[in-house]
Amino acid sequence: MNIDGTHYRSLWWNHEKAVLEIIDQRWLPHDFRIQAVATLQDFAAAIVQMRVRGAPLIGATAAYGMALAMRLDASDSHMDAAWDALNRTRPTAINLRWALNRCRNALRPLPEADRVDAALKLAHEIADEDVGINRSIGKNGLALIRQIAARKPAGEPVRLLTHCNAGWLATVDWGTATSPMYEAHDAGIPIHVWVDETRPRNQGALTAWELGSHGVPHTYIVDNAGGHLMQHGMVDMVIVGTDRTTRRGDVCNKIGTYLKALAARDNGVPFYVALPSPTIDWTVDDGVAGIPIEERDPMEVSHVQGALADGTIGHAQVSPNGSPCGNPAFDVTPNRLVTGLITERGVCEATPEALAAMFPDLSKIEKIA
Ligand code: MRU
Repeated sequence: MNIDGTHYRSLWWNHEKAVLEIIDQRWLPHDFRIQAVATLQDFAAAIVQMRVRGAPLIGATAAYGMALAMRLDASDSHMDAAWDALNRTRPTAINLRWALNRCRNALRPLPEADRVDAALKLAHEIADEDVGINRSIGKNGLALIRQIAARKPAGEPVRLLTHCNAGWLATVDWGTATSPMYEAHDAGIPIHVWVDETRPRNQGALTAWELGSHGVPHTYIVDNAGGHLMQHGMVDMVIVGTDRTTRRGDVCNKIGTYLKALAARDNGVPFYVALPSPTIDWTVDDGVAGIPIEERDPMEVSHVQGALADGTIGHAQVSPNGSPCGNPAFDVTPNRLVTGLITERGVCEATPEALAAMFPDLSKIEKIA
């Protein structure tokens, strides 16, 4: 997407230097820093430290990590070591394993001499495919927003609510949950987005920054405001992203998503999930029992990061000294609370039958663990 007139993807390969370049997201929205990632250790660290984050972007980064690994040593044993090192970085988003498996399955049958070029080509393909998927999600979600707009008095905005950042920064470009928003805005449909701040890491600030850069009207709210807004008829539709969705349509996403889904159900607000197919885990049915939930550093809860008056970025402690803090990073919204899944192929119900019918080619590939 465009920042100050320049088009950026969230990552790109620098052919001259043979390194990956990323936007270091730890400093956004206050500071826009580009960084080179040049060693396998640094690829893993970039994912662990959330310099890159968001399920599709983690997957694309891992694919470039495999490409770099092949440049260093294209042997089977090094390929497996790279797979392990990258797969260990974060446990919840399934796109990571999806991308790593795709790379390994494609590279393994090739002679070592061919692996270097093939791995980079595949990483580019995975990145480009992500952009295409997100554009299609945008078009399919736009149809839903259009329907809501058609029922409203002319000029009245469709009021959307989103949680976390499922925007272009979380993908290679366009985002998943935000793609329909950009499409609607660009099509001249008035929209307004309620953006949950998404404690503890406040990824909502990334979403607000993205939307603001694109001129999309939005309001940044505390996480607990959503239920109140829904009770007062101020939300027409919720659209969130997902880090892993099971074959029956249970949706794992950033912590707090489940509570939004409960509030949406209680208030008759449609709750949609933007779901690219690489985020479906066909090996898991019950998301609550089957998806590992990342437990992150308690410091993210006890402290908040922000821009200080002098423009530097700092941390302030919010919890009392000595109080233990817990930090589960994701939760699971059961499929019964999901109105629909906006995929690249169309919108479907969150049921095993509907997902299998939408992706007959993918759903048979892996057996249930
Ligand atoms: O911990 P993060 O910032 O990587 O979590 C990101 C999310 O939960 C997103 O909503 C999800 O990955 C979907 S991104 C298109």
